[in-house]
Amino acid sequence: MSNAPLCQSIPMPSTTITLNSTENHDSLTIAPATDLALRGQIQVPGDKSISHRALMLGALAQGETRIQGLLLGEDPRSTAACFRAMGAEISELNTELVTVRGVGVGQLQEPVAVLDSGNSGTTMRLMLGLLASQPNRFFTVTGDASLRSRPMKRVIQPLQQMGAEIWSRSGGYAPLAVQGKLLKPIHFQSPIASAQVKSCILLAGLLAEGQTTVTEPALSRDHSERMLRAFGAKVTVDPETCSATVTGPSQLTGQTVIVPGDISSAAFWLVAGAIVPDSELLIENVGVNPTRTGILEALALMGANVQQENQRLVAGEPVADLRVRSSALKSCTIAGDLIPRLIDEIPILAVAATLAEGTTVIRDAAELRVKESDRLAVMATQLNRMGAKVTELPDGLEIVGGMPLTGTEVDSYTDHRIAMSLAIAALVASGQTVIHRAEAAAISYPDFTPTLQQVCVG
Ligand code: S3P
Repeated sequence: MSNAPLCQSIPMPSTTITLNSTENHDSLTIAPATDLALRGQIQVPGDKSISHRALMLGALAQGETRIQGLLLGEDPRSTAACFRAMGAEISELNTELVTVRGVGVGQLQEPVAVLDSGNSGTTMRLMLGLLASQPNRFFTVTGDASLRSRPMKRVIQPLQQMGAEIWSRSGGYAPLAVQGKLLKPIHFQSPIASAQVKSCILLAGLLAEGQTTVTEPALSRDHSERMLRAFGAKVTVDPETCSATVTGPSQLTGQTVIVPGDISSAAFWLVAGAIVPDSELLIENVGVNPTRTGILEALALMGANVQQENQRLVAGEPVADLRVRSSALKSCTIAGDLIPRLIDEIPILAVAATLAEGTTVIRDAAELRVKESDRLAVMATQLNRMGAKVTELPDGLEIVGGMPLTGTEVDSYTDHRIAMSLAIAALVASGQTVIHRAEAAAISYPDFTPTLQQVCVG
């Protein structure tokens, strides 16, 4: 009698996730196993919006600011470099503890070189409000090719109403030059719901004598209002009219800031956990500020199984652990006031919609055309390359769910959120997907690929 097993088991190929680096770019190759599931308990990097603001307010404050959990992505590095060049003492960036010794509001030094905002719209737009309001100092500001093609008129015009002197490339694009001045307060009715515009004007209002108010058509993220108040500025908000007011002149005092995990980074795992069968992920320590939780509402509308656990308040910001289990998704409509509360999550929601039953419609999201890339055009073309049925609308997307995705070559267009969204789409595509220019993920999530490798089982 032979001891050979009666039936031989054929080994299942396991999921491949490899990053290939060339001199200029990385490509991420993903080939999911048919029995792939996502499992584990993970933490996402610090919130990008809060990280920028902690560095900036720390740089302006008197005394020392201590920042725990700072995002170590490329964008906050750009902010730190700019404010170091204007006299702030910022320790080496790390997640444990960054200390910032500020110069005082109105005391930013004139830098001897061009301030480089890199890829970061938040750095450039928020910083402009500060530069414009530093009397008798001259600044020049630039950014990478993507940022130099993004609209700056939206902050230049209201700053000019406050009396600012700003020169731009024609059309209102960077590089920019700023002659700082004492500004006057205004009530600005912003035509767009944008936290970058609102924050720019509120920061400019810190030194203007009197009340500077920004009214938005819908409420955008309120991290600036919360943090300015915590640092001692006189800030009031009226949620009824979507208005925020700062009364100047105001000094700031250094504080301890604990940065929660970024819900915009958690969003990739929420969608991945929902769409990859048999998955369960616990994402710990995620900021759930109500101006940012539109993604949770959209996923609930789609029938996703996401639970908030261990809800708590950390340094003035609501935080929770998020548990996601896979479930069948259905289509929904995402529009109106919800859009500013999930503005950065639309690319990954588009991926969720390709798996949902029915047609998902995203409207009122024209702002996506002026993000790090034209996110409506890029998501439509790249998902369609994979076999999805996505139609671009002037201000959104229409996504017919249930078309099977097939692995192919796609491109991030150097946009971090596109790179990561396509990586999650690759997990539910058959065959191999290659995401070109995947290094873009490091803008907001340097450890995205190792975390992806960690949670993939099978
Ligand atoms: C941000 C505001 C949003 C968002 C960006 C970060 C911020 O931009 O898309 O990633 O930190 O204020 P808009 O204010 O232009 O919508």
